[in-house]
Amino acid sequence: MTNAIDGRVASGKQVFTEGDIAAAVVRIAAAVRADYAGEELMMVGVLKGAVLFAGDLMRALGDYPLIVDFIAVNSYNTGRDGSGGQVRLLKDLDIDPAGRHILLVEDIVDEGLTLEYLLTNLRSRGPLSVRSCALLNKAYHRKNSVAADYVGLEAPDAFLVGYGLDFQERFRNIPHIRQLQPARSSVP
Ligand code: PRP
Repeated sequence: MTNAIDGRVASGKQVFTEGDIAAAVVRIAAAVRADYAGEELMMVGVLKGAVLFAGDLMRALGDYPLIVDFIAVNSYNTGRDGSGGQVRLLKDLDIDPAGRHILLVEDIVDEGLTLEYLLTNLRSRGPLSVRSCALLNKAYHRKNSVAADYVGLEAPDAFLVGYGLDFQERFRNIPHIRQLQPARSSVP
């Protein structure tokens, strides 16, 4: 650990272990299998945060009939208090979602703007159905009524890194999820 950010990650507490995450993935895969009853699914992973979760969920679904694609979006706020948040499409699907059962795969639903944008976007493209799953639900700052259909774990109100979640693009590769220790205030 070489700088202040590394120190804040190292001293932040571990929130979810690899075991917690693996168990949540297995639970979601079992629910998806039961609900779709063998209908072919098109899994849509939301880059970049969901890349590890999407990979593990694919593996947990084993021999289930599945096609996989990825979409990339970026959310940013325009208001001082974070109001007026916008979501922008960075990379569209390669596969046409029309006539398919779509399962969106997110790492985290926080304010909910990203999921709302993606659900609206995908539902406008003629799919048979659209559902969503999120490894983490962070319920404290939701700006709409959106909710994932499958949720793995309830996240605390803290900045989390690891298992796909980043701070300034780093720490996505940590295999568990930990809290970024809040920065010490410069005001005494
Ligand atoms: C994060 C996360 C979700 C989204 C959730 O993505 O991966 O996609 O924010 O935020 P919301 O519920 O508050 O809208 P981000 O835009 O940071 O990109 P990344 O996945 O590339 O890290």
